[in-house]
Order: sequence, then structure tokens, then C-alpha cells
Amino acid sequence: MKALVWHGKEDVRCDTVSDPEIEHPRDAIIKVTSCAICGSDLHLFHNFIPAMMPGDILGHESMGEVVEVGSGVNGALKKGDRIVVPFTIWCGDCEQCRRQNYSLCETTNRNKHLQAKAFGGPTAGLFGYTHLTGGYPGGQAEYLRVPFADTTHIKVPETDLTDDQLLFLSDILPTGWQAAVQCDIQPTDTVAIWGCGPVGQMAIRSAILLGARQVIAIDYLPERLSMARAGGAITIDYEEESVVERLFELTGGKGPEKCIDCVGLEAHVTPSQPDTIYDRAKQMMMQETDRPHVLREMIYVCRPGGVLSIPGVYAGLVDKIPFGIAMNKGLTFRMGQTHVNRWTPTLLRLIEDGKIDPSFVITHEGGLEDGPEMYKIFRDKQDSCVKVVLKPGS
Ligand SMILES: NC(=O)c1ccc[n+]([C@@H]2O[C@H](COP(=O)([O-])OP(=O)(O)OC[C@H]3O[C@@H](n4cnc5c(N)ncnc54)[C@H](O)[C@@H]3O)[C@@H](O)[C@H]2O)c1
Ligand SMILES: [Zn+2]
Ligand SMILES: [Zn+2]
Repeated sequence: MKALVWHGKEDVRCDTVSDPEIEHPRDAIIKVTSCAICGSDLHLFHNFIPAMMPGDILGHESMGEVVEVGSGVNGALKKGDRIVVPFTIWCGDCEQCRRQNYSLCETTNRNKHLQAKAFGGPTAGLFGYTHLTGGYPGGQAEYLRVPFADTTHIKVPETDLTDDQLLFLSDILPTGWQAAVQCDIQPTDTVAIWGCGPVGQMAIRSAILLGARQVIAIDYLPERLSMARAGGAITIDYEEESVVERLFELTGGKGPEKCIDCVGLEAHVTPSQPDTIYDRAKQMMMQETDRPHVLREMIYVCRPGGVLSIPGVYAGLVDKIPFGIAMNKGLTFRMGQTHVNRWTPTLLRLIEDGKIDPSFVITHEGGLEDGPEMYKIFRDKQDSCVKVVLKPGS
């Protein structure tokens, strides 16, 4: 089959690889009908996430048709079912799954001993991500093996809804939603959201659906800022104005009650934010792994007693975090990889009821063979690219 394969830094190729097979009774195989490229894939593309290996198949936002099921799937799925595959692989039995902390499943990470040693405790297996999270082949491919398929799936009801409307149940929609839910939004709250990529766009719509008084979105790319405004946000272009001054201005000098980081470890390096140049230099000297500009800004500007919600991915070590400010202002930090299936019933209903149609974010479509070029277009934000969806077999 054809698949998008990681060969090293900024080297993704569309290769011919062996078809996946049932390896365990709880496996299923799907024929992928749609898959997407995520901001998290860019962290892999840039080789910021440790423990990738040449030959790894990428992709963790996929859906398709079940073509084979293992004997242990126990009727939960059958051939011909249409499913969305959540990016977090979960078992359903362990203590974390019972608490619905699916991205912390204690069972599904095949390399959990390695990871527990590095992290002090294991996290779930993820598709198309680092070997620290199990090294499972991803779904930017014609076929995908879904381990723990009896639990790790979202069954699509008989519906006229298109792949484009359903695909993002795999990741970015629940990620934006969880980021907003973690803020415990009150009707009087201002929610400030850094980053207007796909995750930021979903967080904006979620914060509005959850009843925020005011949502303020921050980025510098005009097409992303206008998409944010179309979703109901007030926007700040950080290349044009001071984020901190403008946020204080919009909140009567007090700062937003809730702040969401939809940027993560690769904050844009720009002379208008000198700390990003400091971070880039420290990264080059191997003294820091991530560029935490957004964390610093959120800690400073958040209203005392407020919440910082962090769906943006961080990989390792960050420097010059003003933790004394965070402690004295009594800020709450909430973060993590998304517990995708925790939010599925609510989000599927919102899509079915027409309250949200996540396909608005798609700007680019292509076949798998366009994947390597699409990684570059998405990375460089060329051609007003916000989100890429690939249709294997098209
Ligand atoms: N927690 C999870 O489960 C989960 C799931 C999906 C994605 N993510 C993470 O969410 C983050 C965003 O993903 P995405 O797909 O939207 O990526 P993206 O790269 O398309 O978007 C990031 C956006 O941040 C903007 N940005 C950069 N520096 C900024 C700054 N200083 N202030 C404001 N905006 C800034 C960029 O211009 C860009 O529009 C990534 O870190 C990704 O890994 C996490
Ligand atoms: Zn993702
Ligand atoms: Zn589990």
C-alpha cells in the first residue's frame, strides 16, 4: 500500500510499504477514506519529538471502512462499518480508562516501560507518533491497523454526513473542546486563545458554544485571523500590536480569566518578541528543547485566580518560566493530550444537530501522493493553508 513515511527531519515521502495485518485478536483493519495533517505532525516533521525512527508511518487523524476484524473485537465492529479513529488508543479496562482519562491509558503503549522511565509514568499509545507512545503505524496511508479496535473507534451512525464533517472527531475538534471545557467557562468570562491554527479555530467555536462572554484570538496570519473572526472572536495580530496591552485594554485592565495555548512548543520566532530569539538560540545550543513564549505571556496577562489551559504540545524542557508569578497569582494549569472518546457523544450530537460543522477549517485536499508537498504547504502556511485533508485511493 501507499503511506506517508517519516525519513528524518523535513523528509516525508509517499512510499510503498507492506499492508497491515491483524496482529492481535482485538485489532481491526480499515481502508482509509480520509486522513488529515495535524500541527502535531509538524513537530515530528521538524524532529522536535524524540524517538521517531526512519520508516515510521505518520498520521493520527483518519477514518474509513472496516475491512477486517480480529476474533477479539467481539461484535463491537464488523466488516463494512464506517468509523473515525481517535488518535489516542485506549483499552477500556485500566484505572485511567475507567476515569475516562483515555490519553493516559495504562495498557495501550507498547513501550510504556521505556516511557515510564523517561516520564515517571506511562501515557497511552498514539497513532503515527513517537516510539515513546508505542510507535504505532499511523493513518496517512491506504490501510490502518487499529489496535484495541473494540474500544478505539467512533462508529458513524447511518447518516448523510460527509467524511469532511466527521473526520475531526479524531483529534482537533475534541482537542479544542477539551481545551475550552478545562477552562470551566462562566458567562462573565473572557477567554483568550493563542494560535488560530486548526486547534485554535476549534477552541474558539467551543468557547463560544460553552457561553464565554468574549473570546479573543491571537495570531499573525491574516487568513487565520479572519477565520477566527468568522467564528465570533475578536482578534489580535501580534505583529501589529502588543498582545499584553490589547488584552488588558479589552478586559478593563484586569486580564482574561481564561487563557488557552493552541500554539505549543514551536512559537513563531520574531524580533517583536525577543524572548523567542533567546529560545531559538538556546535550542541551537541544545540547552532548551521548546520555545515557551505563549506560556510566559499567558502567565503574565491572566487574571489572578485564572485558568491556563494548554492543548498545545510541549516536548521537553522550557526555560525562564515565571513560576513565581503563576504561584502568587494562584493560577490553575490544565493540560494534556486529548481524552478523545470522553467528548464523542456530545460532539457527534453537535455535528448532527448542525450546531458545529468542523469542515469549515479545510482549505486543501489532495491524494496521498500529494502528502509530502502538503506537509510543506501546511508548515509554511503557503496559499492561505489552514488544514489539509488527504483522500487515499482518490
Ligand atoms: N493536546 C492534544 O491532544 C493536541 C491535539 C492536536 C494538536 N495539538 C497541538 O496543538 C497545537 C496547535 O495545532 P494546530 O494544528 O492548530 O497547529 P498550527 O501549526 O497550524 O497552528 C499554530 C498557530 O500558532 C500560531 N502562532 C505561532 N506563534 C504564536 C504566538 N506567539 N502567538 C499566537 N499565535 C502563534 C501560528 O501562526 C499558527 O497559526 C500544536 O502544538 C499541536 O501539536 C495538541
Ligand atoms: Zn493531532
Ligand atoms: Zn486503558
